[in-house]
Order: sequence, then C-alpha cells, then structure tokens
Amino acid sequence: MRRGSLIQLAALAAVAAGICIAVALAIPWLPEAAGKEAQRIDLVFWFTTAIAIAVFSVVAAVITYSVWKFRARPDDDSDGPPVHGHTGLEIAWTAVPALLVTAISIMSAVVLAQNSNAGSNPVKIGVLGRQFAWSFTYPNGKTYGFLELPVNRKTQLDITSDDVIHSFWVPQLSQKQDAVPGQHNKLVVTPIKTGTFPVICTELCGLGHSLMRSHVTIVSQADFAKFLKGGASSGPAGLAVFQQFGCGGCHTLKSAGATGTTGPDLDKLKQDATQAHRGSLTAFIKQSIVDPGAYVQPGYQNGVMPTTFGQQIPADKLSQLVQYLAQNGK
Ligand code: CUA
Repeated sequence: MRRGSLIQLAALAAVAAGICIAVALAIPWLPEAAGKEAQRIDLVFWFTTAIAIAVFSVVAAVITYSVWKFRARPDDDSDGPPVHGHTGLEIAWTAVPALLVTAISIMSAVVLAQNSNAGSNPVKIGVLGRQFAWSFTYPNGKTYGFLELPVNRKTQLDITSDDVIHSFWVPQLSQKQDAVPGQHNKLVVTPIKTGTFPVICTELCGLGHSLMRSHVTIVSQADFAKFLKGGASSGPAGLAVFQQFGCGGCHTLKSAGATGTTGPDLDKLKQDATQAHRGSLTAFIKQSIVDPGAYVQPGYQNGVMPTTFGQQIPADKLSQLVQYLAQNGK
C-alpha cells in the first residue's frame, strides 16, 4: 500500500474516532459514582468503550476508503481484479481482537473480585424486598423503609425477598442484585460520597413495580453511629410501620409523603369507610389490610393488594398502623 493511501486511511480513522470521542464525552452517560465499586465498574465501561471506539474507527476508515477509491464507474462493466487472501492481515485481525477481549475479561475478573470482597469487618444490613417496598434491618435490630449507609466503610447487604423476585439497584452505586425468596444474595458497597440517592426495584414484580422505590442516605461514620443508637427520628410508630411495609408504594398519604395511585387514596379513608358501610373506621381499616378482598373500593380491582399483610405485620405494629391511618383519614 502506498504512503499516500495510508495517510488518507489514518485521516479517515482520526475523523471517525474524533466524532465517537466527542459523543462519548459530551453526554453524561453514567450517573455520578458514589461508591468505590461504581468507580471500578465505570473504569471497565470506559476501557471497553475506548477499545470499541478504536476498532470502530479502523473499520469505518477502511469501509469509507474502499467505497471512495474502489467504486465502479457508471460505464465500467469489467470484472474486478482477482484478489487472494492476505495471511498477515488475517493473523492480525484474529490476534488483535483475541488480545483485546482477553484484556477486558482479565480486567472484569479483577474488578468483580474486588467488588465482592467484604473485608474483615463490614457493616451488615439486611435488605428485604416485598410487593411493593424495600425494608432495611440494621445491626441494632431496627427496621426502616429507607437505607442509611456510612461513608468510606464497607457495608455488606444481605438481600432477600418475601414474595416474588425483586432486584435491588442504586444507580450511583452501580450494582444490581436480585432479591429472591429463600435466598440470601450479598452485595458489598463502599460509599465515597455523602448524599441521598434513589433505591429502585429493577425487576418487574407486579402492578406496583414502578413505585417500588426508596432512598439511600450516605452519612458520615459519626452520624451513622448516632443513627444506630436511635438518634434518627422516624415519626409516629404507625408511620414507621407504613414505611416498613411499603404502603406508600401503592397508596397516597400526604402525612407520609406517599403518592402511590395503584390503590385507593388513604387521605380519603373516612369518606370511603362511610361509603362502604362496614362498621367503625378502625375496623374498616384493619379489615382492608388483613383481608383486602372483603371490600374493594369502587374503581379498583380485587386481587391487587397482597393478602399476606395479615401474617406479615405483627399484631402490635398492625394496631399502630390502623391508629395512624385512622387519625390521618378525612
Ligand atoms: Cu419489586 Cu419491581
């Protein structure tokens, strides 16, 4: 190949690479990394992207060059020149991709091993998925509907489910882990930034799936220690139950900041109870929780509200929840 052609090829490759690099850098493709694991995953992502851009640029340059230099003239009906294989080229285009793919596998294996290393003394937090809410159990035995993590320390999440398969995901921490009934999947996170980020269910798990969200607050180690000592105020006892069992995933309740619309609006409970003619307000609320099929508010479908809350919510917590809802309803 002549020197001039090589320069033209290189110029085409540079143009293709320039466009790809501009697109890669101008758009914020990844959420900010709030954990060490996320940083490592981003590194693998960018390493793979850089290789992809390099390969694409070479291929795009060769194709463009061929279309431009070797196209047939409109009146040219002759046969093309006989071309034989090129052993050197064939070895190169087999060996180079093999090396690149091997490099990606080695890097991924190293990152996977680092990311699943919980170290000798991680904070341990239990994560439970349930239609349609997350609950988190801390080393002090307390359970809340939100996740709180200390910065710059490894935390090992023990993830499981009460009913169907859910999947735990915090975009800023990068990793996803399935919550499977009867199985305890582990996930190690090492936050590096304080702040509040969303916790999302990323496995289609039923009607309330899109609302199965919570949040993670990453705080200093001192604040986390305070939180474990019970310093965090979680409001009225009934509100904690409401959050723990994820009622807000499907229902609206202003005082709890819940905006779900899959089930009836709980700010209208008194009105609905009057309409339902089913005894006192508290009796109506209790029955609606433990036996949701007994009376279904007009406009809503039977069978959407899980029938398992009667067994899941301990009696004392159930009465706290009923009292809380009765006080809130209009
Ligand atoms: Cu739980 Cu989707």
